[in-house]
Amino acid sequence: MVLAAFSTAPAALPALAAGDAFEGEKLARTWCAACHVVADDQQRGSEAVPSFAAIAASPGRTEENLQVFLVDPHPKMPDMNLSRREIADLVAYILNQKK
Ligand code: HEC
Repeated sequence: MVLAAFSTAPAALPALAAGDAFEGEKLARTWCAACHVVADDQQRGSEAVPSFAAIAASPGRTEENLQVFLVDPHPKMPDMNLSRREIADLVAYILNQKK
């Protein structure tokens, strides 16, 4: 009898923990672009709302404090009930815009 080598696909796991900026961009363009400028090619968002590039560059910014904010956003921003996975992806995308 020949045992087939089977894969448990461990390669898919690290992306879960790290957040996938590519997925984050899709989420941002769908859910966040009405208010935030989420990408360099976006013409305009809402004036009172910081762009993702500005958020990424603000002093003291960390992956953790972005995640904490998105789990429980301030009153000025709607709570979008993001999953942990979506938050990780969005945070990866936002922090990629740090210049
Ligand atoms: C209805 C408009 C609106 C939408 C949609 C929106 N935001 Fe915001 N967001 C705001 C406003 C307004 C602020 C500024 C809040 C403040 O200064 O208290 C803000 C602030 C933020 C901040 C900065 C928090 C900080 O500590 O500086 C982050 C990060 C953020 N938004 C992420 C997102 C993400 C990710 C999405 C999409 C999932 C999103 N926002 C969708 C209005 C919005």
